[in-house]
Parts: sequence; structure tokens; C-alpha cells
Amino acid sequence: MTERCQGDTRPRTGPRARTAIVLAAAALLAATSAAFLPGTASAGTTLGASAAEKGRYFGTAVAASRLSDGNYTTILNREFNSVTPENEMKIDATEPQQGRFSYGAAEQIVNHARSRGMSVRGHTLAWHSQQPPWMESMSGSALRSAMLNHVTQVATHFRGQVVAWDVVNEAFEDGTSGARRNSNLQRTGNDWIEAAFRAARAADPGAKLCYNDYNTDNWTHAKTQAVYNMVRDFKSRGVPIDCVGFQSHFNNDSPYVSNYRTTLSSFAALGVDVQVTELDIQGAPAATYRSVVEDCLAVARCNGVTVWGIRDSDSWRASQTPLLFNSSGQKKAAYDAVLAALNNGTTPTDPPTTPPTTPPTTPPSGSCTATLQDSTRWGDRFNSQVTVSGASNWTVVVAVTPPQKVSNTWNGSPTWDSSGNVMTMRSNGSGNVFGFTTMANGTWTRPVVRSCTAS
Ligand code: G3I
Repeated sequence: MTERCQGDTRPRTGPRARTAIVLAAAALLAATSAAFLPGTASAGTTLGASAAEKGRYFGTAVAASRLSDGNYTTILNREFNSVTPENEMKIDATEPQQGRFSYGAAEQIVNHARSRGMSVRGHTLAWHSQQPPWMESMSGSALRSAMLNHVTQVATHFRGQVVAWDVVNEAFEDGTSGARRNSNLQRTGNDWIEAAFRAARAADPGAKLCYNDYNTDNWTHAKTQAVYNMVRDFKSRGVPIDCVGFQSHFNNDSPYVSNYRTTLSSFAALGVDVQVTELDIQGAPAATYRSVVEDCLAVARCNGVTVWGIRDSDSWRASQTPLLFNSSGQKKAAYDAVLAALNNGTTPTDPPTTPPTTPPTTPPSGSCTATLQDSTRWGDRFNSQVTVSGASNWTVVVAVTPPQKVSNTWNGSPTWDSSGNVMTMRSNGSGNVFGFTTMANGTWTRPVVRSCTAS
């Protein structure tokens, strides 16, 4: 290359010039190395850049109607490297009349994002909500066909432009049933979810295919377990699922819980990516925002975090002021906490899967004795058996090591502490031997009996 810039005064080949070139090259090399060496402390100054340094993205929901707001787009373009259309890819937006597809608003967001190097999450192909009237009134095989056609058409239209699709959204009931949501889609047959995933894979083979839901953050909740079991089943049968989205709309009724990291890592251990897809937190407490980001960074397969809007005034829950920027577009304390968490995060390694080698523990005892022994072991979990002596009515406290999680118990009545890691098992008339299954989640440390008390 022999072009010269204005102000360039050749010749520049004397010793001082050569020294300057060498020093400049060394400085550039040092800066470049610092930027790409894992574990170095080169702090980014925006959410997207800092997340990228950790191999993650930091995204936001975007509304097409706000792209003409300069304050909004200034923050969007500066801070985020991933975008999710908030409403524009939903069924009512993309197929308002059956067979007539409308992509204008979605394309506006996709083009805005991709022309600036941001990736796009597609939200959402199949959902019981925000269906257009023609779909709401359908049922049976006609609805099944219409749903699959919708998935195929939309995923095909955006093929190659969307890195991850929320193929199916919110298909499980809240509460303790662990059941599928009773929607018109569910009534087409229990296999509707896997049918949607197969159609999406065929239409856009390069995209990651996610299941997305809310109130799936607490590992001990029935809904979380139900989704987990579905994903495990899908993986075992080869249904094409690549990722699970945790919406993470936290508020006083549905708060962040300390076992959130366990939830993320437990799903990841099934062989799927996990993503925080719609984060907002009532009141935007900095510490909670920080915890969520730290939890994601601690899980190797947590790809990134998306907040559900930019400024509080953009939020679907604006009165809760749950986002990172106030309504004027100024950074809140939560923003600083998230940025700090992204910059301090470590590069995670996959958890070891070494089996336990030490002999069974004989736990401490109170007025009774409880002895824990290993039982059956599988690739992802193991059983333990506890034998109690010295009392027929007993209470035994057992602790597992996070991210382990007890998934099943027998011959006792369990309760849990708020972390979900400490189980208090009480006799229930089934004898003096109880058992439980522990999901290893990559950690094979033997559970520990903390106490045994007669009652
Ligand atoms: O755009 C129209 C406007 O023209 C009209 O005057 C106004 C009157 O109601 O409605 C406007 O549309 C609203 C739209 O948001 C855009 O603001 C819809 O009524 C309203 O229902 C819609 O709410 C969206 C909601 O999903 C619908 O279920 C929220 O913006 C959106 O943030 C929210 O996102 C969902 C995720 O998709 C799934 N997870 C939960 C999350 C929060 O509910």
C-alpha cells in the first residue's frame, strides 16, 4: 500500500521514524492481546462491548414505532449488540389475515439491527397469545396446519437473519400442576410443540431454536421442572431444540431467587444453550440486576442477556420503572451494576463430571443417627439412601452442593430452605429409610447429612 494521507511528509525512513513505528506496533499488539486474551481485565464501556468480551451478547427488546426517537436509537446503537422485536414478529403482526403475511415492521427492526452489526432474536413463532382473530377461532387439524404453515413461512422469510428463534412461547401453566397450558394449540395434540420445532428447523436450519417462558426461574417450582422434563425428553428423542429462554420478568410477586443460577446450569447440562430473554426487575434494584448477569456469566452455555426495553418509559411495566435507563435515557444504578458485572465476570469453564471416589459419609447425629449411602447412578443424576436409627419419628436435614438439585424423594416428607439446596426430610410413616435423587448438574459431590433429631 503506497497511498499517502494529507499531512504525510515523506521520506519517513530515518532511525527516529523507524523507532516510532516499532513502538506504535508494540503498543497496538499489546492492546490487541489485552482485548482478546481470556481473563484479562480490559473493561468495556458499553453493555454490548463488555458482554462481547465475555463471549456473550447484551440485547434489548425494540419497538419499531420508537426507531424514529433519537434518544432511543442513540442508546440502542451505543449499548446493545442484540435486538428482539418486542411485538413485530408475533403472529398477529406477521400474519394478520390467514395466508397474507406482513413483515414491514419486523424488517424495519431487523434491518436497523443487522446494518449496525447487532444480532436478532426472533420472537415468537407459536404462542397462545397475540394470535390474530382468524387463528383464535380455529381448532383441531386446521389450526395445526395453520400454525405449522405460519412457522414455516415466517422462519423461511427471515432465514439467515435471525440467530435464535423463540419457536414456542409460554406453553406451560403457572402454579403447581406442571401441566401444559390449556390453549387452542395444546388442544391440537400434545405433540404440537415438537411439530413446531421440526417445522422451524426445516425452514431455517442455521438458526438456534429456543423454547421461551416466564416463571421458570425458580428451580424448585413445578413449572420449571415441567419445562426441564420436556427439554430432556426432546433431547433424548432428537427433537431439534437448541436453547431455552428464561424471560425473567421479576417483580414482588415473582422475585429473583438465589437458585436462578442452578436453574440455568441445570438446563444447560441437558445440552442446550440458555438465554435470559426478557429481563426486567421491579424497581430495578442494582444488586439483583448484578446477580442475574453474574449468574449468566457463571454458566458456560448462557449466551447472553436481553432486557425487555431500553428506558423505563419503553417498558410494558413502565410504572414499575424496571429497566436500566430512566425515562430521560439516563443510566440508572442498575446500569452501572450490570456493566460492572460484565467487566468483572470470569470466563467460565464447563463443570467437571468426575464421579465421587470417597466412601459413604457417616453424618453427625443428634438424638438419632442418619447414615447416607450412595445408590444407583446415571449419567446425569444419582440416588442416595438415608437410614435412620434411634427414632421412629425423625427429622433429617440434608444438604446438596449447588448446582446440584434434588429432583425426587421417597419414604419421607421433604421441605426446602429458600436456596433450594437444603432439604428437611420428616418421617411420614414409611419406615426409617428414605431416599432421594440428585441431579448432578456436573457436580458429583455426595450430599451431606447435617442433623438428625427425634421428635
Ligand atoms: O400499537 C397499539 C396501539 O396502536 C393501540 O392504540 C394500543 C391500544 O391498546 O395498543 C397498541 O398495541 C399494544 C402493543 O403492546 C404495543 O404497545 C397492545 O395493545 C399490547 O397488548 C401489546 O402488549 C405487548 C404484550 O407482550 C402483549 O402480550 C407488550 O408490548 C410486550 O412487551 C409484551 O411482551 C411479552 C412477550 O412477548 C412475552 N413475554 C411476556 C412479555 C410481557 O407481557
